[in-house]
Amino acid sequence: MFGKRDDFGNAPKTAAGIKPASAPAPAPTSPSALRATVGALADPSSNAQNAAMLAAQMPDIQVTQAAPLAAPPPVQSEKTPEYYATKKTVFDTLIETIDMSQLAEMDNDTTRAEIADVVNEILIIQGGVMSIAEQEELLEDICNDVLGYGPLEPLLARDEISDIMVNGADKCYIEVNGQIELTNVKFQDNAQLMNICQRIVSQVGRRVDDSSPICDARLMDGSRVNVIAPPLSIDGPTLTIRKFKKDKLTLQNLVSFGSISQDGATILGIIGRTRCNVLISGGTGSGKTTLLNCMTQFVDAQERVITCEDTAELQLQQDHVVRLETRPPNLEGEGEITMRELIKNCLRMRPERIIVGEVRGPEAFDLLQAMNTGHDGSMGTLHANSPREALSRMESMITMGYSLPSITIKEMIAGAVDIIVQASRLRDGSRCITHISEVIGMEGDVIVLQDLFTYNITGEDANGKLVGKHQSTGIVKPHFWDKAKYYNEEQRLATALSNSAGDGGDFA
Ligand SMILES: Nc1ncnc2c1ncn2[C@@H]1O[C@H](COP(=O)(O)OP(=O)(O)OP(=O)(O)O)[C@@H](O)[C@H]1O
Ligand SMILES: [Mg+2]
Repeated sequence: MFGKRDDFGNAPKTAAGIKPASAPAPAPTSPSALRATVGALADPSSNAQNAAMLAAQMPDIQVTQAAPLAAPPPVQSEKTPEYYATKKTVFDTLIETIDMSQLAEMDNDTTRAEIADVVNEILIIQGGVMSIAEQEELLEDICNDVLGYGPLEPLLARDEISDIMVNGADKCYIEVNGQIELTNVKFQDNAQLMNICQRIVSQVGRRVDDSSPICDARLMDGSRVNVIAPPLSIDGPTLTIRKFKKDKLTLQNLVSFGSISQDGATILGIIGRTRCNVLISGGTGSGKTTLLNCMTQFVDAQERVITCEDTAELQLQQDHVVRLETRPPNLEGEGEITMRELIKNCLRMRPERIIVGEVRGPEAFDLLQAMNTGHDGSMGTLHANSPREALSRMESMITMGYSLPSITIKEMIAGAVDIIVQASRLRDGSRCITHISEVIGMEGDVIVLQDLFTYNITGEDANGKLVGKHQSTGIVKPHFWDKAKYYNEEQRLATALSNSAGDGGDFA
């Protein structure tokens, strides 16, 4: 099957952990002959027989029964330097042996089976002493290197991981349940890590190297990826992956996690439904996009919604949704489509609501204009640590693109934005919605903000988890009351607000 298999075994390299084969390498085998041997090896019933036969032919070589391909282990075990040396030797021989162009034409399962066959042959010929478990692990690692994302594969397979952060070849952190953990996943060296980064970014037609060391990309499953390479990242390539969650969290999930109280969720639902213009503010990884996704669940099915994102993360449930994505420049630095261009184009597409994944630059102006020109119910997220800071961030983002007087920008913001929802990642790792605030207008040259609903930390439990309460601030008739009334939601709004005044909503 593989054109280069005739070379197989001609020059097996030795390394620590592998007993050098003292027997001469087998004579070049024709692909079909090799196929027969490999086929027999792959058949568990004939493995022992076959191993015995080979052992008889090459008495100095210790033969362990070939291991079948196993499912990726949930977590990688700690690996020794000898393991890595063996892997490198086997991997190099494999690459010399197989014809990659033929591999590319096969489906994944066939390729895995072919690789498994060749790796087993190499192991037998090189005579390394490996347990079946080690062989399985080696095989899986090599398949992952050839077909996928190498040592990252087991982490990518775990849905509970939200972020993977690789800081050079030796350090790989993950975030699970809000906590950052160091894993024992290691890359062979920075070159292997860089190869994997390259493979990831080349799938979206990009390149990462000395001349363009920063790159955004995404994996086939939609996970968002950032790569920054040396010389900018001093200790080796740095790869950050925000894993794509297949089953997006709902507002009800957030209630069950204690991120918001039931009444708070009701208020957010009403805000989402009644076409308030919303900014979701928060620090990095605080849950802004998740919350935006949750709030869009309340958009009426009849409304035409257009989403604009740098990397498509939102999963709107409605039928009438148009999803747009920005485009980075190509390898020649051309063809970039910015968020500004997308939002401007949106306005010509008869949107009823515009949802912007993340506002980070002068497109803030275009979003505000959309909000001010009849596209009520538009929403966007931005990086800021409080609702008040979100306002000044908006102002400075607009200043990046326009030389407008500060007061004009503030008036524009005050006229456009109805609600700011603040998401935070608390010090115990939990995500929490800490503010629902209203923009109620201008007083002099200051935008007036009013908190409707806040999270107040009251202490810490025995396990270090923060304890606090979501409470309404006592405002019974918020500024968006008329919008709620227009949608017949004012009673529900009043009830949710009054329920959570005082002692309502106690959450650990
Ligand atoms: N309330 C929550 N409780 C538990 N996990 C959450 C919560 N909100 C979000 N997450 C998880 O946290 C991770 C980050 O969420 P998300 O992508 O929404 O953050 P973000 O603020 O948009 O991040 P970024 O700043 O990188 O865009 C995701 O894996 C998401 O599933
Ligand atoms: Mg986000």
